[in-house]
Amino acid sequence: MTDIDQTDILIVGSGAAGLTLALRAAEFARVTVLSKGDLHEGATFYAQGGIAAVLDEQDSIESHVQDTLTAGVGLCNPEVVKHIVTRSAQAVEWLVSQGVPFTTSELDKSSTEGRITKISDLSSLHLTQEGGHSHRRIIHATDATGKAVFKTLQRRALEHPNITLVEGCTAVDIVTQKRPEASNRVCIGMYVFNQKTSRVELVPAKFVALATGGASKTYLFTTNPDGASGDGIAMAWRAGCRVANMEFNQFHPTCLYHPHAKSFLITEALRGEGAKLELPDGKRFMKAFDDREDLAPRDIVARAIDHEMKRLGCDCVYLNITHHSPEFIKYHFPNIYNRCLTFGIDITKDRIPVVPSAHYTCGGVVINEEGETDIKNLYALGETSCSGLHGANRMASNSLLECFVVAFGTARNISEKILNTTICTNLPTWDESKVTDSDDEILVAHNWDEIRRLMWNFVGIVRSTKRLNMAKRRITLLKEEIQDYYASHKVTNDNLELRNLVLVSELIIKSALQRKESRGLHFTLDFPETLSEAKDNILAPLD
Ligand code: FAD
Ligand code: SIN
Repeated sequence: MTDIDQTDILIVGSGAAGLTLALRAAEFARVTVLSKGDLHEGATFYAQGGIAAVLDEQDSIESHVQDTLTAGVGLCNPEVVKHIVTRSAQAVEWLVSQGVPFTTSELDKSSTEGRITKISDLSSLHLTQEGGHSHRRIIHATDATGKAVFKTLQRRALEHPNITLVEGCTAVDIVTQKRPEASNRVCIGMYVFNQKTSRVELVPAKFVALATGGASKTYLFTTNPDGASGDGIAMAWRAGCRVANMEFNQFHPTCLYHPHAKSFLITEALRGEGAKLELPDGKRFMKAFDDREDLAPRDIVARAIDHEMKRLGCDCVYLNITHHSPEFIKYHFPNIYNRCLTFGIDITKDRIPVVPSAHYTCGGVVINEEGETDIKNLYALGETSCSGLHGANRMASNSLLECFVVAFGTARNISEKILNTTICTNLPTWDESKVTDSDDEILVAHNWDEIRRLMWNFVGIVRSTKRLNMAKRRITLLKEEIQDYYASHKVTNDNLELRNLVLVSELIIKSALQRKESRGLHFTLDFPETLSEAKDNILAPLD
């Protein structure tokens, strides 16, 4: 008897990708959405800047496509970029129809009337600017876009009779079957750890979709929430899926530097609205690194900051937006204004201390435009996947866009197969007969910290073959130790995350060692040049 019933579609993850898929698929199927923590505890809730979309008459699909390809340094799949960008206005229309309260260009400072809820009003949306974009094309809900999107989609999902939302359940592994008629394995369900009962349950499903977000917790300093341990990537890999381009970890240039501010992002939209990066002595420095200066793509800005911090031996650089009026700042960036104020920083008068932090996983499970993976009836979408949109460096605000458009495609794909797919109920249950209670939590905590420090120091913004090899040796040992512990102890949420974190770290290091060039987010001192031919780095579990 399981607590989580069998379902048509089991979606792992309640962020933008998971909830969008749930809402689209609930039109024709029963859907269960799992979240290992509270429903909101994914990156989506914390997204600030916005969603990139071609809405302005002066803008064009071609321009958005070209900016994405340029930021991706030759490694984006142009067909996928075109597919997603072409559907950006449709994604915004859908979000508005769901009720997401986006900011309009009406600078109504005293009320929420500067928001729209009707599709006919799209032209009144306020468009902001971020790095790499040659137009203002970022729609947003002030500086807390993710919260507005999440709350709206969550509300819709809670109201829907075909959707069940389940918190506190961690997906452990995918159950697959080899069938004589199919060349690849078929996904038939999932093992799920129920944190309430501390038991692993078997959940049969016709289709499983991994929407588990990224893996930035592999790094010591990150803008991401705690659950970003790359679970979907690790589960898909163990089940037999290929992963691609794992060396491209995006470091966001501007995370708040303060001893008590855990993971607080300072949105790139500040620079879009004219904020400038400065050294401690007030000098600007981005001109020396790129003609686009403070609005160059993220890889360039993060490397420039890293370079200046190392050159001067300083702990942070500064972001200065004090040229704007306090009214403008408080209207556009209320979340950041208030949060900084709690640390004694008044951003209308003071410069903001910032450092780069791990932010986004550009690589992931290999998928097509409709989220299909190498395993039949298993899908991946959102940050856990690698669709080909981002290449070697994701352009700002293209991530949420990808979540929506790929979720639309995944729902369509499943709708075409569902009538010919049956549920398999005769599956092997979880065997706990040979394990004991987890008795050494310090080992789990120690290894968690060690991996993240190792990745930060040896597999960070600037890499070298020597450091990558050191990391590889150490991660191999850690993986063995963690696997031994996992195999002989009962499952806990922490040891599940640790097992995934070490595997994803290994995939990142392996991919980084394989790339004998510097491109986008992967910069190595031993191969500083960019090769003329851009090639994806695809790892297969069976190699
Ligand atoms: P997430 O929103 O991360 O959701 C993952 C879900 O999976 C969570 O519900 C989690 O609980 C669940 N989960 C994970 N593992 C398991 C498991 N084993 N079992 C069960 N559940 C599991 N992008 C933009 O385009 N624009 C922005 O302005 C922007 N700002 C950002 C600001 C911050 C601070 C951060 C961190 C990211 C930002 N990004 C932005 C990136 C973007 O927010 C994310 O890439 C995107 O939200 C990912 O959505 P997702 O649905 O793939 O995953
Ligand atoms: C930001 O607001 O700076 C983050 C945007 C993104 O990651 O796309």
